[in-house]
Amino acid sequence: MYNQKVVEHFTNPRNIGEMNDAHGIGSYGDPDCGDYLKIYIKVNRDTITDIKFKIFGCSTLIATTSVLTEMVKGKSLQEIKGIAGDDIVDELGGLPEDKTHCAKLSVTAFYFALQDYQKRKNLGWTR
Ligand code: FES
Repeated sequence: MYNQKVVEHFTNPRNIGEMNDAHGIGSYGDPDCGDYLKIYIKVNRDTITDIKFKIFGCSTLIATTSVLTEMVKGKSLQEIKGIAGDDIVDELGGLPEDKTHCAKLSVTAFYFALQDYQKRKNLGWTR
């Protein structure tokens, strides 16, 4: 049902935790399944320099968010522009059809974190 990479990410998730000095925070929940996550990012010179996440949800969501953090950390905002749930599914080598929405949840929370960063930047709260 799950390939080895997915299992590896949900048993050993990368970048899990909170961040007190985040430049952007995004959270999102799926009312259908009740799962929820929060993503914290740090951005320096338009590059994602750090990212952390907290999850109250399924093991697939842990795997999709874990791999998302690896995909975006160290990348410029330009490079990650347009990243979508399907990119996460591809990076993980596939997911069961009924679990692909977990990847969309990860990406949505990440985009909310980026939006929050842009808002703070426009207000002059961060560089
Ligand atoms: Fe809800 Fe995975 S089943 S995010």
